[in-house]
Amino acid sequence: MGTREVPEGRVFSDLLAEDRLFDPPASFREQANISDGGARAAAASDPEAFWAGLAGELEWDRPWDRVLEWETPYAKWFVGGKLNASVNCVDRHARTRRRNQAAIIWEGELGDRRTLTYWDLYREVNKFASALKSLGVEKGDRVAIYLPMIPELAIGMLACARIGAIHSVVFGGFSAEALRDRINDAQAKVLITADGGYRRGQIVPLKHDADYALRETPCIEHVVIVRRGDFPIRIHEGRDHWWHRLVDDVEAKCEPESMDAEDILYTLYTSGTTGKPKGIIHTTGGYLTGVCATTKWIFDLKDTDVYWCTADIGWVTGHSYIVYGPLAAGATVVMYEGAPDWPERDRFWQIVEDYGVTVFYTAPTAIRAFMKWGAEYPARHDLSSLRLLGTVGEPINPEAWMWYYEHIGKQRCPIVDTWWQTETGMILISTLPGVDRMKPSYAGHPFPGIEADILDDQGKPIEGQGGGGYLAITKPWPAMLRGIWGDPERYQQQYWTKWDHDAYFTSDGAKQDSDGYFCLLGRVDDVLNVSGHRISTMEVESALVDHASVAEAAVVGVKHEVRGEVPGAFVTLRQGHSPGPALETDLKQHVVNKIGAIARPHQVIFAGELPKTRSGKIMRRLLRDIAAGRVLGDTTTLADSSVVEQLKKQYEEGGQEE
Ligand code: WTA
Repeated sequence: MGTREVPEGRVFSDLLAEDRLFDPPASFREQANISDGGARAAAASDPEAFWAGLAGELEWDRPWDRVLEWETPYAKWFVGGKLNASVNCVDRHARTRRRNQAAIIWEGELGDRRTLTYWDLYREVNKFASALKSLGVEKGDRVAIYLPMIPELAIGMLACARIGAIHSVVFGGFSAEALRDRINDAQAKVLITADGGYRRGQIVPLKHDADYALRETPCIEHVVIVRRGDFPIRIHEGRDHWWHRLVDDVEAKCEPESMDAEDILYTLYTSGTTGKPKGIIHTTGGYLTGVCATTKWIFDLKDTDVYWCTADIGWVTGHSYIVYGPLAAGATVVMYEGAPDWPERDRFWQIVEDYGVTVFYTAPTAIRAFMKWGAEYPARHDLSSLRLLGTVGEPINPEAWMWYYEHIGKQRCPIVDTWWQTETGMILISTLPGVDRMKPSYAGHPFPGIEADILDDQGKPIEGQGGGGYLAITKPWPAMLRGIWGDPERYQQQYWTKWDHDAYFTSDGAKQDSDGYFCLLGRVDDVLNVSGHRISTMEVESALVDHASVAEAAVVGVKHEVRGEVPGAFVTLRQGHSPGPALETDLKQHVVNKIGAIARPHQVIFAGELPKTRSGKIMRRLLRDIAAGRVLGDTTTLADSSVVEQLKKQYEEGGQEE
């Protein structure tokens, strides 16, 4: 595919062409933190020196002895170095003139506001760290956090980091059962939750849900509850404590624990190809180096910026690019509790205008929703403060990219399309906004110091441009995962055995163009990307077969205009149960109860039997076709199994079975 240059700011109406290129405006380039590509070559020739230089921008209690020890599949970065993540994100800024700068500007869905300066954050983190200690939390203990998007979420994480406890944040949209499983897997000692939160005008009863989980989590000794609203809750005497009372009774200062660079900072559960989520392990020194550097370079942060990442902190994007990266970089971070369409569909643009947001980072699914709602909502607001836009979580289609560029960025703002994963900890592929030209739907080059390749099944690089293959990361990087909590075998198996040479298997497909730009093509495993969030088909299947009526279930991804992909379910029923709309609703709700609303099947198709290969494997590609309506239109019952048989025959003959 050839490339052609377009003059700055020019927009082509042919949205389907893939070869548009956009230059960052000269005015952006002139002020950018990184404005030439020299760093790439330098980093490539000596990656360890490059990363050491960036690590040196952090505050260390003790310098490291060696930059990297790599014994596949385990990396140790900055070996022998000591530091504390909360000191790097808070104390060191509170010591400078930044002490009076806003660290977190928070807006609740109701319109309530709180601003925490770096000094305020320092005070809150210290107090809550003392409170955790008063509950007996020690270095290495696990603390589960199940909170809405309120400042206490960031404070709780940083307080854990301060005393060396390992936090495990569970997205507030997950169900009680999902919370229970994550608490038990991590063997958490303390749970931090809230009486509730607000979402689209509704109360999300977090403590109430947590109480269900807590019936089956014997490891939990204490529960800390933030008072967000004034929601009625039950207090379990001796175990449950109000946050605001706890912090009243403790030392206002808490000495930070000097942590080894390789001590665990947190675990975060994410979906893999089995029904059991994996607790991804991140450590301290390398992670902080990676997220701080990518924040400064990719989001081009300055002291005058107001940075807003719309993700929920319950996902890795919030960990790395709301909390650790931006705070380590001393940024002013906007945090919003609620929904983008509450009370109206211009809420985000209202927030951008009110706070003068300069850097805005969101997901393609949100952009597609904005597109659908119409350009009149952003047009109601002054968005001229914006200077840089970002996306993450899924491939961005060129139409959504162009809409973002025109209607939000007004053709002035570079867009960074950032590819990474819970496992990678930090952004690994993106353009550098002051250096690279942008190409819709292409994430760009690997970040300096990162080596990526596209490999075939044999592990050989795909030759020539445009050929699709597996995205592999071929050198260790500082923020890489250090394992899966309690399951070293799965770690090895999942990421390091695809090929017989050293390469991290991303589970993503990709292709590269003649400029070396990577275009991400989506997951190659059975992990769905629903609104930019990972859900494994196996998790949804296990939730379905858990229902008394279901004999067998198969779940496939179905394309969705706004969400990207949604789960489509095929079920066969046990004797004595019959299909119907009531059962369909019931099954969908069952999945919500087991996992959370995000996993709710879009459609449940009742089948007499599931199409299988001769060896008994479910033919997912066939199911995907059926679910996409390519074959059966809108029908939700595969009553006539001869239809399936017929299709199966065609597929087998066409050699397309999986
Ligand atoms: C997908 C989110 C295309 C990808 C940070 C990856 C993307 C999965 C992009 C990780 C992007 C993330 N373009 N696809 N810019 N960013 N993905 O762990 O499939 O929630 O493997 O981390 O999201 O999802 P996770």
